[in-house]
Amino acid sequence: MITKKTINDIVETARIEDVVGDFVNLKKRGANMLGLCPFHNEKTPSFTVSPAKNIYKCFGCGKGGDPVNFIMEHESVSYPESLKYLAEKYGIEIEETQTSQAHKEEQQKLDSLYVLNQFARDYYHEQLLQTDIGKSVGLSYLKNRGFTDETIEKFGLGFAPKDKDAFTQAAKRKGYKGQQLKKLGLTSKYDSDFFRDRVMFTIHSVSGKVIGFGGRIMSKNVKAPKYVNTPETEVYNKSKVLYGAYFAKRAIRKSDECILVEGYTDVISLHQSGIENVVASSGTSLTVDQIRMVKRYTQNMKILYDGDGAGIKAALRGLDLVLEQDMNVKVVMLPEGEDPDSYLQSVGSEAFGEFIESQAKDFILFKSELLFSEAAGDPVKQASMIKDIVTSIAKIPDPLKRSLYIKECSHLLKVEEEILMNETNQIVTKSVHQAEDQRKKDQRQYARKKANEQDGNFPSDLGNFPSEPPPYLPEDADYGAQAPPPQPLQRRPAAANNAEYQEKDIIRLLITYGGQLFDPENEAVTVARFILSNIEDVLDDFDNDLYERVARECLDMTIDGTPITPQHFIQHEDKDFRHLAIDVLQPEFEMSPNWLDKHDLPLRSQPMPEANFNNDSISAIYWFKIRKLDKLIERNKASMKKAIDEKSGEEDVMKAMKIHQKLMEIRKDIALKLNTVIVR
Ligand code: CTP
Ligand code: MN
Repeated sequence: MITKKTINDIVETARIEDVVGDFVNLKKRGANMLGLCPFHNEKTPSFTVSPAKNIYKCFGCGKGGDPVNFIMEHESVSYPESLKYLAEKYGIEIEETQTSQAHKEEQQKLDSLYVLNQFARDYYHEQLLQTDIGKSVGLSYLKNRGFTDETIEKFGLGFAPKDKDAFTQAAKRKGYKGQQLKKLGLTSKYDSDFFRDRVMFTIHSVSGKVIGFGGRIMSKNVKAPKYVNTPETEVYNKSKVLYGAYFAKRAIRKSDECILVEGYTDVISLHQSGIENVVASSGTSLTVDQIRMVKRYTQNMKILYDGDGAGIKAALRGLDLVLEQDMNVKVVMLPEGEDPDSYLQSVGSEAFGEFIESQAKDFILFKSELLFSEAAGDPVKQASMIKDIVTSIAKIPDPLKRSLYIKECSHLLKVEEEILMNETNQIVTKSVHQAEDQRKKDQRQYARKKANEQDGNFPSDLGNFPSEPPPYLPEDADYGAQAPPPQPLQRRPAAANNAEYQEKDIIRLLITYGGQLFDPENEAVTVARFILSNIEDVLDDFDNDLYERVARECLDMTIDGTPITPQHFIQHEDKDFRHLAIDVLQPEFEMSPNWLDKHDLPLRSQPMPEANFNNDSISAIYWFKIRKLDKLIERNKASMKKAIDEKSGEEDVMKAMKIHQKLMEIRKDIALKLNTVIVR
């Protein structure tokens, strides 16, 4: 186990903006920094980093925490692994205490696999550079292909000799066990070397560990496969790895684009010529995990296809997956018979760069053109082509983007926009319903889990509320009879209404602090004036009648200059007002936790609200507005659904979609502002 002292060192040293900044482009925004969340799809940034508090928080998906949490979440590693990552980053030495035997063995097992892979890499590399056969066969082959010494070093290229088990024997002499060698796919079950008579390409994890190899045959012997690759092992999960990612990640982030090629040699060649933001799928189709990995660094992907024509359609179908992840995809078709490596070698890096820049086509338009030319004059093919293309378009999460594509494709395919729109909307609606069902299911599950956890275990935030009434309550005020007896903290009924709590919080602020100055420097603005001037236009929208009446009374008092005090309400002639005043002034007033449940945002109130009432006012207003926006969004969704169900025309649907988009933007803006209030 890592010692407490080391953990403290790490936690105190790690800067959230550094740690996150290695993976996310952050821009300064006031006291905070803002970027695209690496944990969910988004187009407008809601991922916020607070250097002052050393935390991150996403207002889109709700993920948040400190540097250690970030690495755990982002790199999918355990707590100790995350600590180790940070220790390494900051050059902190790790002290460890005795750990449980089982855990230690598990760790050692994995470590030893990496060590053995590293040994293999060094072995093949040495064979390439130090042995006669390696030099004359392997090195000359690589040099012939134009790879420099530097490149060979950097990418850990090597050479596997022809002998039956030269490597296996060498490893065993070093004390490595046959079982381990087989586990890593380095040695066959008959104890011979897996890689023989091949030039070797080392495959690294995104953090630079050696996880596997690809070996290329050098002769033109057609019988043997051109490449053999390490099979799936405990440390090599093929669906999560892209070749070259370790060397490319910096450049990808910097250029805000990832170039995807097929082969090992393409990556190396481009890299050597200065195009470093390039990774390879190693000849297989992309997986969601691979796309998500790229998405940590950029949303823009440029895919270079070998100019052999074959398989291009199948490859294009696979790209819907990329669209679904809300990536912008461009494709480049290389000239016939060329792959990125060969084309680069033949025209030079400058012409190559110009070519891919000028030839890059938007994926959907590219696909449309391709299918269109194939379906010419064949109505059956044309119908399936339309299906194919709208299926792709429907995968794009952004409705505005979708409608633009529909326009473009309608020109390209010479199909009426309306038809494309109809088809697309059908698919979208279906998948929206599916997603909605899933979300509801997840929510119910989450609620059940939460309820179980909370039984007899109330969130500790509430425990911090003062047990005495606030000092400004008159000692002798006769509120005891009216107020409900102090309740022990208990779980609120699940059906508690969120709107109630938000509105009530506004009323709480008005009654408790309404007469105080919002800003001590500015005599003209009281808390009540500040709040009311912000929500005056939506007072009608209060769900709770009583709260609305209180708000209106406060508005009247503000206008004619009557001071707003707690006493005014405690001694109010209206019994309901008196009850409410006591209710909101009493210590156990239940507030934010419900909002936390609903919005998955942190409790914004401090235990002692006095110190914080202006922040509270600002956030209360925003919350109130968010709540109203949610209502509008729901209403708009209903009309969108109606328009779709009644087929009342695409225009209505598109209009509703645009409104939806706009409302969501406003909502996000407010959520961001809320964050500023919280963090400052
Ligand atoms: N590949 C493979 N097994 C094969 C052929 C290909 O695993 N039998 C993978 C390799 O990762 C290879 C990629 O698919 O890098 C692309 O294949 P290809 O274009 O045929 O090879 P190149 O990388 O271009 O290699 P070279 O330039 O040496 O021909
Ligand atoms: Mn090639």
